[in-house]
Amino acid sequence: MSIGSKNNNESCTEKTHSYISPAIQALFLQIASLVLCLFFSLLLIVVSIDPPSIIIYVFAQAALAAFLTFLRGLDWWWCIIQFFFPILILIFLFAEIPSHYYLVVFVALALLYWSTFRTQVPYYPSKISLLPTLLSLLPSDRNINFVDIGSGLGGMLIHVSKIRPESHFVGIEIAPLPWVISYLRGKFVQSKVRFNLGNYEKANFGDYDVVFAYLSPAVMSAVWVKAKSEMKPGSLLLSYEFIIPNVTPDFHINITPNDPILYVWRI
Ligand SMILES: C[S@@+](CC[C@H](N)C(=O)[O-])C[C@H]1O[C@@H](n2cnc3c(N)ncnc32)[C@H](O)[C@@H]1O
Repeated sequence: MSIGSKNNNESCTEKTHSYISPAIQALFLQIASLVLCLFFSLLLIVVSIDPPSIIIYVFAQAALAAFLTFLRGLDWWWCIIQFFFPILILIFLFAEIPSHYYLVVFVALALLYWSTFRTQVPYYPSKISLLPTLLSLLPSDRNINFVDIGSGLGGMLIHVSKIRPESHFVGIEIAPLPWVISYLRGKFVQSKVRFNLGNYEKANFGDYDVVFAYLSPAVMSAVWVKAKSEMKPGSLLLSYEFIIPNVTPDFHINITPNDPILYVWRI
């Protein structure tokens, strides 16, 4: 584990985000590729050339969608999603999977990822290796109020609260399925953590001594604005993996070379 201070921290860069969400932009680019490929097929028919087979057609659409996405400047993973999306549709169509399976998978994914489409923060858990570092940062001379904004399946909070039973731990989770799992998990192990279903944007950060975030680059600037206006002097804002653009942390901790960095801001 190594600790970096304000002076030797890496520079913070800011990404500009279009007000149209990346998911919507990706959808339009996919539709544009579909229309362009259809238009090209019609053109071939008009000049009496056989249109390409469906497989070549779909690969062409996939490649075009990925290329347009690259040109549009969306994050690199969107290019991969755009490429594989039409190809997977084709594979599933050939597989002739009964339609109710799609419904089941859709409902399960909707409950898990819920408003990721809007929040741009999907579910993925923090690593267990974070716990000792996190615990070492918590003030040890008093009871604290700690909140995990976007608590996922609740594992991190349940572990930490077991070691600091005198303190109060709250998890706020927007997606119903992770929230239900965290709630039942908490009941099952008789944890004192309070798991709330809701949006952390509606919570008052001023109620907490420590605000922990493991979210995504897309929301960090807004988290900072909220933290600055609501958090009490002396409280801590922690962000696992994601830096706040243009706001140098007071220090950061490299837990291990393979783990995400934990960034710390003293308010
Ligand atoms: C990367 S996961 C982190 C999970 C957990 N904190 C951990 O460390 O394992 C982010 C979680 O934040 C949730 N989330 C995203 N936006 C939210 C919001 N506005 N309010 C509450 N939860 C949110 C997502 O549904 C997801 O479960």
